[in-house]
Amino acid sequence: MAIRTIRTVGDRALTKVCRPVTESTPKIKQLVEDMFDTMYEAMGVGLAAPQVGILKRIVVIDTDGTPYVLINPEIIETSGEQTGDEGCLSLPGKNGTVTRPNYVKVKAYDVNMEPFELEGTELLARAICHECEHLDGIMYTTHVQGELRDNIVVEEEEDE
Ligand code: NI
Repeated sequence: MAIRTIRTVGDRALTKVCRPVTESTPKIKQLVEDMFDTMYEAMGVGLAAPQVGILKRIVVIDTDGTPYVLINPEIIETSGEQTGDEGCLSLPGKNGTVTRPNYVKVKAYDVNMEPFELEGTELLARAICHECEHLDGIMYTTHVQGELRDNIVVEEEEDE
């Protein structure tokens, strides 16, 4: 298990267009594992490689207990609309209102470079859009309607 440092806004890695992955290597597999570890540790639902300083087209997502790795992802279909809160591990303590498609179909490669397609709605669709944009150097803040808000951290009550 290796936790990598999450780059925050102001870091140039977050503004770059990332390069496609050309082959599955032990190094790529290690990176993907580290990205999951880093995302779970930070309590996030998605993480893109540039957020850990690696300019490759790789994202990891887990919105509902199912981990997905998307390598060289390409959104091929969208429909509908959802408007809701969005945040980013690279901009801790903030969130904002963003409208996204309510349905997304993405094609991508898995960690063995086998192609697959994934469909998502609601939070998964939102996460796919958000993470894929990181690969082109785009932050969700460019889409925020109104002002960014401070996240109010509510301490969870301990179970007895
Ligand atoms: Ni993000």
